[in-house]
Amino acid sequence: MTNWNEVDTYAKEWIKEAGESIKKSFVQKITVESKSNPNDLVTDIDKATEKFFIHKINERFPTHQILGEEGFGNELEELSGTVWIIDPIDGTMNFVHQQRNFAISIGIYEDGVGMIGLIYDVVHDELYHAMKDKGAYLNDQPLPKLTNVKVEEAIIGLNTTWVVPNRRIDHSILTPLVRDVRGTRSYGSAALEIAFVATGRLDAYITLRLSPWDFAGGIVIIEELGGVYTTLNGKPFNLLGQNSVLISRPGLHERILKDYLNNGIW
Ligand code: IPD
Ligand code: CA
Ligand code: CA
Repeated sequence: MTNWNEVDTYAKEWIKEAGESIKKSFVQKITVESKSNPNDLVTDIDKATEKFFIHKINERFPTHQILGEEGFGNELEELSGTVWIIDPIDGTMNFVHQQRNFAISIGIYEDGVGMIGLIYDVVHDELYHAMKDKGAYLNDQPLPKLTNVKVEEAIIGLNTTWVVPNRRIDHSILTPLVRDVRGTRSYGSAALEIAFVATGRLDAYITLRLSPWDFAGGIVIIEELGGVYTTLNGKPFNLLGQNSVLISRPGLHERILKDYLNNGIW
């Protein structure tokens, strides 16, 4: 039987320690490389942070598996057992250009069920965290359950990429929603944008392509607060693949799906 309190305690200790190392890198020269395209950045700090977690997890919990963005963990074809899904720095472009607006994101799953979610905004020292059935918190503050708001009073997180011609969605689909909502925001870190839905700073977050490490921690927190997460077609997430994403307050999720996304048929 997994002692989840023990796992949670270590995960929080390690995420804070990793945050301290990342902060120290602000005064060092970092190495920046591109991955899939010139704007898909990775630094030596992303890699070192992922390796730090892998070392700690392997040492303390040798039976646990790790799925990490930078590929130093295990190659997983299924989610059986205990699996840590880690994005060592979510918002690397912000980390490189702004030295803020990035986070460490960790989701810990048991046989595919989210048990612990952690998102650490290193610069603001804000740790968003949840354990299944134990509520969600921002640092020591419990977060209230999410309730419905009207589209007209909603602020949604949405990257402008999706409202100009792009490869993933007919950009005209999202235009009426952008017109009707109170406002749109784009922060450049999916994990933080999900954390912002959890705290009510955003009412919904929409994007067209996220990987498991971008949302694995966040959806545990959202689930705990009664928020809703599906693909833009209203389907459950594939935890081992890429997904379009609609994460929202309850009620608002249904309204966006039905009135703006034609129940996912587009
Ligand atoms: C990216 C950020 C970004 C989102 C991208 C992600 P990374 O993660 O979360 O906000 O729009 O889809 O890949 O590469 O900085 O870890
Ligand atoms: Ca990411
Ligand atoms: Ca990353």
